[in-house]
This record gives sequence, C-alpha cells and structure tokens, in this order.
Amino acid sequence: MAKKVILDLDTGIDDALALAYTLGSPELELIGVTATYGNVLVETGARNDLALLELFGRADVPVFIGEPHALAKDSFEVLEISAFIHGNNGIGEAVVPDAQAAPQEQGAVDFLIESVKKYGDELVIIPTGAMTNIATAIKKDPTFAENAHIVFMGGALTVPGNVSPWAEANINQDPEGADIMVRNSNDITMIGLDVTLQTLLTYEETKQWRALGTPAGTFLADATDYYIKAYDTTAPHLGGCGLHDPLAVGVAVDPSLVTTLPINLKVDTEGATRGRTIGDETRLNDPVKNAKVAVAVDVERFLAEFMERIGRVARGL
Ligand code: BDR
Ligand code: CA
Repeated sequence: MAKKVILDLDTGIDDALALAYTLGSPELELIGVTATYGNVLVETGARNDLALLELFGRADVPVFIGEPHALAKDSFEVLEISAFIHGNNGIGEAVVPDAQAAPQEQGAVDFLIESVKKYGDELVIIPTGAMTNIATAIKKDPTFAENAHIVFMGGALTVPGNVSPWAEANINQDPEGADIMVRNSNDITMIGLDVTLQTLLTYEETKQWRALGTPAGTFLADATDYYIKAYDTTAPHLGGCGLHDPLAVGVAVDPSLVTTLPINLKVDTEGATRGRTIGDETRLNDPVKNAKVAVAVDVERFLAEFMERIGRVARGL
C-alpha cells in the first residue's frame, strides 16, 4: 500500500522538483499540498502548487493555504536572495498558466491536524519551507506532535548555514516555529544542508528533460536551469544546484538513502546564532532522542532515483 504524504511547500524551484518527485513515486500517495511562505508569499506558493499539479496531470490533488508569516512576526516579505535564486514568481520566471482549480476553503493547519487524526502511522508530512504551519498545528492540537511523522528539509548541523554562518533558509524564516517543531515532535527526521548540498544537479541532466519536448519536461528544464544559474553565482564551488527539497521526499520513500544521527534538537532563537539547529544541551543525557539528523547520503543512488522519478513526470504521467 502506498504511503500517504502531505507536502508543505513554499514553491520554489526545488519545491517544484519535490512535487514532481512525489508524483513520480509509486510508493507515495499525495493526499494534499499545504502552502507555506519563504521562497514566495503563501498565496504565490499555493498558486504555483495548483498550476504545477495541473501541468503534471494531477489537478485532483487539493491545495490548502497556510499561515502567512512567522509566529513572532505580523507580516512577511520575500528576501532579495530568495527572489534571486527562485525568480520573482518562485518558479524561475517560467510561465505556467493559472490552474482551473482554486485552493480549498479549509486552511492548511486544520487539514494537517485532521489528516494526522485520520491516517496516523500511514501518513508522512514533508515540510520544505517555513515551519509555521507545523508549529501552529502543534500548538492547536496537543495530539498532533505525538502522532505525526515528519521528514523536513531544513537546518544545518555539521556545516554552516546558507543565509548566515549558522542559519539555513527554511529555519531562518521562523526560528521560533522550527524550535517548537523539533523539540516536540515524536518522530522527526531532519534533511539539512549537511546532505542536500551533496546532491547536486547540472545542465547535463536538465538537457534530458528538455529533449523530451513535453510541457512538463520543458518547464522542469527551464525552471531548474534558472536555479542552477543562480547557484553558479552564489555557490560556484558546488558545480550544480542543491536538490534540497527532493531529497526529503527521497528519504520519505527510502530512509536507507541517508545515515542519521539520533539527537534531541533545538533551534537557537536568540543572539547571533539565531536560526541555528543544534543539540539541546539540557536533553543531552536523555536516553530518548526524538529526532534523527541525516549526516551522510548515498549520492549516486539518490540521483538515479531522482532522475527516474522526475523522468516519469517529465514524460507525462
Ligand atoms: C531551502 O530553502 C529554500 O530556498 C529551498 O526551497 C529549500 O527548501 C534550502 O535552504
Ligand atoms: Ca523549499
């Protein structure tokens, strides 16, 4: 039986790749997409999710709008660096028409809570943007953190951050929210920069999607080329773009793609290290560790899985 999945996305070019990875994985059944903010405003993210679901032939998947800003703030503006990496529209300035479907009336937080109650261990939640929807669900329903299974993209344990020497972008959007999530969730796996900056894509791979001549293949190639070009400027030493969000989906399908460290995590919310993901010194000697942090990845196997799954979507499902 396929594992049920909710993607919590700030779509976002690598979020779009995570969406395609999910749809191209027969082991997963996508029951909904919840929109968060980060690379884009929450409304733009939801628009992109609906448009891409239609482009990928899955307009039947419902999209739910989430919280518009961090717990400790009352508004959100897209950072200049996010717009540079993902384009002003979040999808590398690629033109994808608006979908016919509209977002659901139910909000993302209520959908998340309801789904965990309904599906329990059959469901995995994959957050790949600001963690505010998850933190709000935890605050609203005390049973959520106990029963949800979460594999999130964010954080950096053994490497520096990508928005500051300590902070990774998704955690940096809402450190208080991320802290609530990592401290309280019973089952949580962190897929951070430690591993996602080892899984890189180049123009060699995107060429294969463009050569298919399909609308989905052309979009995936155009948007990803925009992303690779941004990485050429911001991180030329890498020689490609980081497959951050798709790796979280890859691990949800097959946890053996990464090696994990059991740990009790926290997020620094004060001072210069605000946004840092690190072990909680007050729970160091607690024999029960609630989190697993990916510290090594089978790069070759993941890239093969990635190309196979995105290839299915690029060819037209
Ligand atoms: C993360 O930040 C966002 O820009 C990406 O979509 C990814 O989720 C990488 O730090
Ligand atoms: Ca993202």
